[in-house]
Amino acid sequence: MDSILVTGNGALSGQIPIAGAKNACLTLMPATLLSEEPLTLTNAPRLSDIKTMTALLQSLGAEVSTLQDGQVIAMSSHDLTSHTADYEIVRKMRASNLVLGPLLARFGQAVVSLPGGCAIGARPMDLHTEGLEALGAEIELKDGYLHASAPRGLTGAVHEMRFASVGATENIVMAATLAKGTTVLKNAAREPEIVDLVECLRKMGAQISGEGTSTIEIQGVDRLHGATHQVVTDRIELGTYMLAPAICGGEVELLGGRLSLVGAFVEKLDAAGIDVEETAKGLKVRRRNGRVQAVDVTTEPFPGFPTDLQAQMMALLCTAEGTSVLEEKIFENRFMHAPELTRMGARIDVQGGTATVTGVDRLKGAPVMATDLRASVSLILAGLAAEGETVVSRVYHLDRGYEHVVQKLEGVGAKIERIKS
Ligand code: EPZ
Repeated sequence: MDSILVTGNGALSGQIPIAGAKNACLTLMPATLLSEEPLTLTNAPRLSDIKTMTALLQSLGAEVSTLQDGQVIAMSSHDLTSHTADYEIVRKMRASNLVLGPLLARFGQAVVSLPGGCAIGARPMDLHTEGLEALGAEIELKDGYLHASAPRGLTGAVHEMRFASVGATENIVMAATLAKGTTVLKNAAREPEIVDLVECLRKMGAQISGEGTSTIEIQGVDRLHGATHQVVTDRIELGTYMLAPAICGGEVELLGGRLSLVGAFVEKLDAAGIDVEETAKGLKVRRRNGRVQAVDVTTEPFPGFPTDLQAQMMALLCTAEGTSVLEEKIFENRFMHAPELTRMGARIDVQGGTATVTGVDRLKGAPVMATDLRASVSLILAGLAAEGETVVSRVYHLDRGYEHVVQKLEGVGAKIERIKS
């Protein structure tokens, strides 16, 4: 297993290009199952999660090929050979469950393994199944697999979700595009990745309105046609790299960044003493003079502070002036980066879903272990500003969501290298 060596090397300066959104691409790819015509995605990120989704779609019989060094994904699911998403793939990546809605809508059947828990939580699928059953699906759990069928097709319905689940919103919206009649989905998630999915479905002929609000309305159609769609910029990669100059000092421009993608996050950066300026090419980030100031953070569904930036923000607050309280309201176990940051000299007290961080002057480099995708990059960020060397092990977590991390950070002056094992 590879590791990454980071050495604190002072202020950063230069530009970092931001890739297409992993969490948009992972729902856009299963959308190919809704049509027998080809769907092509551009600006796709080069990540191991995308390779996993590719393997899953191919296991169903879809044709998936990548061009231009992985930035273009050409897909076609004219003839499928299977409707089963195998446990071996789903357990590695929960987003595999996003084939459930499309398979049900187009073929009237799907067998999808429950993902099982992961490092950050139990990750159940009850919100997905409740929504699909509201559309007339019959779903039974057997041997760890959801066996779903809609022998008479799906029928539009009014359905209110108990929680604004991102994945459940995506599965239900995709299924509803081919249902008979109208679906009104209430308490829908509002993430930009859902807006991006709807824009792609609309290009395929879907009749949808309300994306980005809590109520999405879908008029079912008989069939969808092919399309070409550019994947939206990755707001979590964007937010992650905005923290690099915040933690190290200096000024970095994030190419492709837009304020609309990171509103609540930028508000917190401003309160912490970080300036963010929108330019023609992206977002310019610099730390105001002096130390970062402590701020309190509570994670919420979009447009609130993203849970996927909580670990990275904690790394910044470890060296802030004062005490910060971080509340993780989305997942039940998303503070595994805390004990690793503590090894670097951070002062963090975790009580259930609340972490209290008392800032220290400077962290000290140490060997640390990545436990999940966002925790891994939080440790990289901490290492950028720490005194001495930090070795982050198990970086396969990092490869799931961040392409070319070493090159992107080296490009702005970081001292960082990948150690092959
Ligand atoms: C998506 O996961 C993202 N993944 C996650 O990003 C992100 O953290 C999450 O949304 C929240 O923003 C992808 O888009 C591929 P949820 P998802 O359904 O859809 C509970 C990353 O780092 N829940 O909104 O699985 C669930 O347990 C990943 O890129 C149910 O109880 O998130 C969690 O506590 C991590 N029942 C909360 O809701 C359900 O049926 C939010 O889950 C579904 C979810």
